[in-house]
Amino acid sequence: MAKGARTALLAGLSVIAASWAPGAFAQSLAISCGAVGMELRLCQEGAAAWSAQSGIPVDVVSTPNSTSERLALYQQLLASGSGDIDVFQIDVIWPGILGTHFLDLSDAFSADEIGAHFDAIVANNTIDGELKAIPWFTDAGVLYYRRDLLEAHGHDRPGSWEEMAAIAADIQAKERAAGNDRMQGFVFQGNAYEGLTCNALEWIDAWGGGQIIEPDGTTSVNNPRAVAAIAEAASWIGTISPRGVLSYQEEEARGVFQSGHAVFMRNWPYAWALGNAPESPISGKIGVMALPPGGEDGQATGVLGGWNLAVSRYSNQPEAAKDLVRFLASFEEQKRRAIVGAYNPTIAALYENQEVLEANPFFGDLYDTFTNAVARPSAVTGTRYNQVSTEFWNAVHRALSGQATAEAALADLERRLQRLARGWQ
Ligand code: GLC
Repeated sequence: MAKGARTALLAGLSVIAASWAPGAFAQSLAISCGAVGMELRLCQEGAAAWSAQSGIPVDVVSTPNSTSERLALYQQLLASGSGDIDVFQIDVIWPGILGTHFLDLSDAFSADEIGAHFDAIVANNTIDGELKAIPWFTDAGVLYYRRDLLEAHGHDRPGSWEEMAAIAADIQAKERAAGNDRMQGFVFQGNAYEGLTCNALEWIDAWGGGQIIEPDGTTSVNNPRAVAAIAEAASWIGTISPRGVLSYQEEEARGVFQSGHAVFMRNWPYAWALGNAPESPISGKIGVMALPPGGEDGQATGVLGGWNLAVSRYSNQPEAAKDLVRFLASFEEQKRRAIVGAYNPTIAALYENQEVLEANPFFGDLYDTFTNAVARPSAVTGTRYNQVSTEFWNAVHRALSGQATAEAALADLERRLQRLARGWQ
């Protein structure tokens, strides 16, 4: 089986469980891993290292870059009760949506092993007292900038989003006038998917406009600060950001920035290692800072992202699968992934590790950004989170693309969310 089924998963097709023949791969495991940046390679290397010590081969199944597409695929696969994939790499926003399909890992890991990870992530992954996934790497949105360009044009790092836009406009105009006609001021994730939810929540939080749905379940998104934040972002489209940004995900933004064609980029930490690789045209020219405040009395921000490892309830080899998770989420493996790929550890002690900090100096400078990142409202909305997020990113996308004003988009969104809110209130 599994070959065909796994290929189907890869291709994003839905017929997954049909070809499963029990026992066909009794001696091998399958893990689904992301493939953004260096993720796939690092997962393959980690899995191979575990195989070498356990003697159990591991198939690494790659998944679509869009976390929203990945969720749809996982839902199809898990709903069919298929044991094709033993270990799932799951987004920090999914324990509530997918948790019923995963084993409780609290007994398989010692209190010390669990306690080494950030408490907030362990709490996030705990549903009704069951630990549904072990933290693997954490994420927070950060602002990348071209140190060389800011310096050449006499600018300091921006102290606010409005300043970012002004600096971006200035450098974009001057670079284009100097013949650098592909230069863009700012690139980010503007496609209608989960990544836009992250970007837009960051704008709203920077303006002090709340968390879309508050931890007590109230819909807060239609407020003047949130409107101001989204209106500001809409003003970037076609000015400092190309219209094409409306279809960018992480890798498209990184592609433009890394090829030297953008002054600023919002992305996750992984872009650091790739941008500074020897073959990168901008190697050594990159700065990273927290996303700045916006509006009158806003705050610096960054949305909490990150990925965790869960064991499928339908796995035929749950014990081996748990051992693979233990290995991949370990101190040594998280250290390797941090040094090679700038994937943020979930183990606090690694932020004091010299080699990790040498490879990623901003892990130290932005420690507070990583540990205090603003969470999307996935805990409070539970199984409805993806519907909430879909409504949110669609509303923001309409405002960014000029189909609605920020006011109208958020007022309409509020009505839709209040209807959905019956599911969690
Ligand atoms: C990153 C984050 C994840 C988020 C996704 C959105 O992968 O780690 O939490 O949902 O980006 O694109």
